[in-house]
Amino acid sequence: MIEKNVVNGQWYETEQTIPVFNPATKELLGHVPSSSADDALRAVDAASDAFVTWSSLTADARADKIDAWYRLINEHRDEIADIMTREQGKPFVEALGEVDYGNQYVRWYAEEARRIYGETIPASVPGKRLFVEKEPVGVVAAITPWNFPAAMITRKLAPALAAGCTVVLKPSEETPFTALRLVELAEEAGIPAGVINVLTGDAATISGVWQAERRVRKITFTGSTAVGKLIMRQAADTIKKLSLELGGHAPFIVTENADIDKAVTQAIRSKFRNGGQACVATNRFYVQASVLDAFTEKFVAEVNKLKVGNGLDADSTIGPLINAKAVEKVKAHIDDAVAKGATILTGGTIDDSVGYFVTPTVLANVTEDMICMQEETFGPLAPISVFETLAEVIERANNTPYGLAAYAFSERIDEALLLGKKLEYGIVGLNDGAPSAAQAPFGGYKESGLGREGGVYGIEDYLEVKYLSLG
Ligand code: SIN
Repeated sequence: MIEKNVVNGQWYETEQTIPVFNPATKELLGHVPSSSADDALRAVDAASDAFVTWSSLTADARADKIDAWYRLINEHRDEIADIMTREQGKPFVEALGEVDYGNQYVRWYAEEARRIYGETIPASVPGKRLFVEKEPVGVVAAITPWNFPAAMITRKLAPALAAGCTVVLKPSEETPFTALRLVELAEEAGIPAGVINVLTGDAATISGVWQAERRVRKITFTGSTAVGKLIMRQAADTIKKLSLELGGHAPFIVTENADIDKAVTQAIRSKFRNGGQACVATNRFYVQASVLDAFTEKFVAEVNKLKVGNGLDADSTIGPLINAKAVEKVKAHIDDAVAKGATILTGGTIDDSVGYFVTPTVLANVTEDMICMQEETFGPLAPISVFETLAEVIERANNTPYGLAAYAFSERIDEALLLGKKLEYGIVGLNDGAPSAAQAPFGGYKESGLGREGGVYGIEDYLEVKYLSLG
């Protein structure tokens, strides 16, 4: 594992370091640099210098290098997945899936680099020509989370590079090794020194410098809504562009017209992917009264088939949570719900003696006053609440400051489309528990964020619009 920062193509260690642990065993994996404010400034210097040449390359030249990065990630997918499982905990097969999913963004934006088009606009004054051109915003600061250590990096870096931007990256201090290996492969792919600079360490120290720097023109962040709000306030002083992918609180609605088997299969995917540690993970289930028993019985049977364990064991389907704080949060949500009248149908046990393991837990008799129905749990907890009418469930599903993802299951097209229309969410999975895709927009309404990642939308966030009026 790489235990170094990289600035301007130079890999280096620092005197102060941060330990990184395996959440399945609590064993020490290694140390990474605890970067200083000086490191943060040097990274901006490097990205700013590299911007001059990187942004002047032809789109083809940039596209070829990004494509070479895609190929190298593909060649090293097992190795990257192994690193990811060790530092993040998700089962190896799921980690492989994340490497492939994340790499789809690299491939998609390698192609999209060639399609950054401008336009001409008819003038209202004879003899004038009006042109619109797209230009890269400049140096981008990317701050990424631990739950998807590869995909959240590629989803930001690939469009930034395609647009002609250069990057200073701070990966999560919990999962830095995946990031460092990805960036080493980018270097091997021929992406020049200074185009991607990576610093590990304390978020406040590093992002404090990047926020104050006028040369950093954009911040892209995935993480909690609380930190997103802080970033937004700090970015105000230099009016930076912002992309914020923040917390979710996804409802999963099963109407009486749903295909129950399909709903159960998709519910397992949506709820237990990465042990529930995803912003788009289902956080609360709403099931119509007439199908409540049928759904609950089948769902609990499927949940009981999940196997919690070290992600490196071939039969594990759910790994550990990331740390002790994550376990405490799930426990607090279960305890609160039970105290307020919920029933545990399965799970509810926590074993954090060796690693941070929580068994998948299903709760019945759930009501809106329980914390798990108001806040993101970010763990393997599935609270099921009953509803009577569509109007009622739409109101309950929308009654939250969050608006990232929602799921609705019905075999009636009118009902599915009505739910699709009325749910105030940036992503709605209709009979689909896994809507994320490289070519599609990912992002939230309300306090779930600003901007979109993925597809043609994702590159616009890295571009300035320049209007040229030729007299
Ligand atoms: C997230 O929810 O944290 C990202 C997951 C995805 O890209 O599907």
